[in-house]
Amino acid sequence: METYQYPKSQELFKRAAGVIPCGIYGHYSPAPLVPATSYPFYTSRAEGARFWDVDGNEFIDYMCAYGPMVLGYNHPQIDKAAMDQIKKGNCTTGAPGVMVELAEYMVDLISGVDWVSFAKNGGDMTNYATMIARDATGRKKTIMIRGGYHGVSPWMQAPGHHGTMEDDSKNIIRVKWNNFADIERAVDENPDNIASFIATPYYVPAFEDNELPEDGYWKKVEALCRKKGIVLILDDIRHGFRLDMRGSHRYFGFEPDLICFCKAIANGYPISALMGTSALKESTARIFYTGSYWFQSEPMGAALATLKELKKIDGPKIMQETGKKLMDGLVDLAKTYGYDLKVSGIPSMPYLRITNDESLMLHQDWCAECTMRGAYFTSHHNWFISTAHEDKDIQKTLEIADEAFKAVKKKYGDRF
Ligand SMILES: Cc1ncc(COP(=O)(O)O)c(C=O)c1O
Repeated sequence: METYQYPKSQELFKRAAGVIPCGIYGHYSPAPLVPATSYPFYTSRAEGARFWDVDGNEFIDYMCAYGPMVLGYNHPQIDKAAMDQIKKGNCTTGAPGVMVELAEYMVDLISGVDWVSFAKNGGDMTNYATMIARDATGRKKTIMIRGGYHGVSPWMQAPGHHGTMEDDSKNIIRVKWNNFADIERAVDENPDNIASFIATPYYVPAFEDNELPEDGYWKKVEALCRKKGIVLILDDIRHGFRLDMRGSHRYFGFEPDLICFCKAIANGYPISALMGTSALKESTARIFYTGSYWFQSEPMGAALATLKELKKIDGPKIMQETGKKLMDGLVDLAKTYGYDLKVSGIPSMPYLRITNDESLMLHQDWCAECTMRGAYFTSHHNWFISTAHEDKDIQKTLEIADEAFKAVKKKYGDRF
């Protein structure tokens, strides 16, 4: 099996570095790709579960654009729904009618919530949610999980990040995931001053194993929030529609007050949603919150079509089953080389790590070797499975993984 080369990607990146700060910024930055020379930086086209880079290399995609791709790239039905809206008028004076249709559909679909508001990015909604909680409770502070990610507003970033000020985190209290006593302590130390608790359905840090909630964790958090009048915010931006179509809270059995969705909601079209209970409708209505493109009809048409299709085919079930098939295959294959491949999180969003080498070098090399043969694996972030990944993709991926195991075994021998 030939390994891929990326001369055009690297050439484009050189040009980009001249005119774009960091060349490629944010979560697409090559910085966490190790070694970056093993990865493509620019994509030329995509179809189903695959994409092709500017050098013409073909990849089975296990990052799914970091989550938004859920039904497959260029999905005819979703693209048609988006195009139908574009033809009617995409960014118009006056809200589009399809917005109400989408809102009614989502309120019926998602469990335990009564209203929805739309924006573009996930961070728009996590920010909005904390504003609503502050307005509704008259309190200042938000409890979040240390290492949790909710977007890029200064308060969401870890203290000390460039461009943020100490004051930005003044009203943020960080607690350890799965440690209920930590939350209780934060609440006791700030009597009547906690507006909200925000967390993802389970813990998805980068460069670390992902962690499901311990038995009873969410129920205890919910009970404490109810007792103390704290708004419980579920950040379902990454997990949403890959665990349960009714919202990930149904998967884990608890009831949030506010839920933020984005990523998989429209198969790549830009839209996010904040949903909440009737108790918070009035506060939400009086907060001014908007954006130039938030009323675009195109992503709303795409979201409606995506959610209907995911529900019809039971998308989360398909992704869980496909993910499990791939994970079982990879774990078994690793064993034949003497490697312990640890899988954490859930199979539709798995996080992998070869435990033989704590430094992650072996794992990073294996992911890079897979990528250079056409299975796009990052080594530091959870992967994403879509409904477009078919058995033939899994089979091909296992063949690639086998070659990659051979390559790292040759490189490291019995060192690990
Ligand atoms: C859990 C979670 N919350 C919030 C966000 C922020 O979403 P966005 O980048 O669309 O603002 C992300 C993005 O990766 C996320 O994974």
